[in-house]
Amino acid sequence: MVNYKDLGLVNTREMFKRAVAGGYAIPAFNFNTMEQMQAIVMAAVETKSPVIMQVSKGARNYANGTILRYMAEGAVAYAKELGCEHPEIVLHLDHGDSFELCKECIDNGFSSVMIDGSSLPYEENIALAKKVVDYAHQFDVTVEAELGVLAGVEDEVAAAESHYTKPEEVIDFSTRTGCDSLAISIGTSHGAHKFTPEQCTLVNGVLVPPPLAFDILHEIEKKLPGFPIVLHGSSSVPMEEVNTINQYGGHLEAAIGIPEEQLREASKSAVCKINIDSDSRLAMTAAIRKHLAEHPGDFDPRQYLKPARENMKKMYIHKIVNVLGSDGKLAQC
Ligand code: 13P
Repeated sequence: MVNYKDLGLVNTREMFKRAVAGGYAIPAFNFNTMEQMQAIVMAAVETKSPVIMQVSKGARNYANGTILRYMAEGAVAYAKELGCEHPEIVLHLDHGDSFELCKECIDNGFSSVMIDGSSLPYEENIALAKKVVDYAHQFDVTVEAELGVLAGVEDEVAAAESHYTKPEEVIDFSTRTGCDSLAISIGTSHGAHKFTPEQCTLVNGVLVPPPLAFDILHEIEKKLPGFPIVLHGSSSVPMEEVNTINQYGGHLEAAIGIPEEQLREASKSAVCKINIDSDSRLAMTAAIRKHLAEHPGDFDPRQYLKPARENMKKMYIHKIVNVLGSDGKLAQC
């Protein structure tokens, strides 16, 4: 058993409490490579922001659970080396799909887990989430559960259609599961193709997607005052990255994300964790494609991974400072 506290990590409890009260959101960035991890830590340190580094089941299979644990421990040490004396770094399992997977992560240094039973019937979702919560809380690990279904594909998680969270269920669900935070569905979805062009309106030559269901979010907030709410599928799919990818040999058609103004608005509410994965993938791919197209003779991975890391770091800093507002929010610097 490896407890996250011995790795210098923290759970989400205190940072969520401060984020809900302060009207900002904590970034939850997915990672599975060293360069992503370095970029996340550099961005968090430069902006003095708490940060959640999260891995999906697929990422864990790709990178190896043991290596991830040491990467997270390394992230804390690296943040200190960069001058941050009291970093607040969470290692979180994204979309855990079974009790066994959550337990394995808790036993191996994760400080937070998500149990995603959202595709199960309501009572089964509750029973599974409660089982994970009962285990996790013995070790002071925090648990995110989900009500409502997001559309889109993320690693092994795929759903064709979304179902908005029903506000009338949230009190019963959070009380009976004892979860620490609740992921809800209000119109975001996973991946870089969140909407079809037909679902969008053309404004000044730009496809604008339908707005998030803020009415549902506000109803949920009223039912659960101060309770931490999580938004998945919150990449904004920046057009400049998509254009760079396409300019240098890629082929991404009709990539559409969530406008940043909407995420900014959500951050001011009880939404205190915002998940971003696709934007990091796009930033990395755009920089690598551009570098290799402009330097066809390069074959040392450092030559193209360095600009990729820089581009991701720039994107993470932008999200923290201009969208989520978590800069300068460490309890102690
Ligand atoms: P994006 O695909 O919008 O980045 O969402 C990531 C996510 O929600 C991870 O759980």
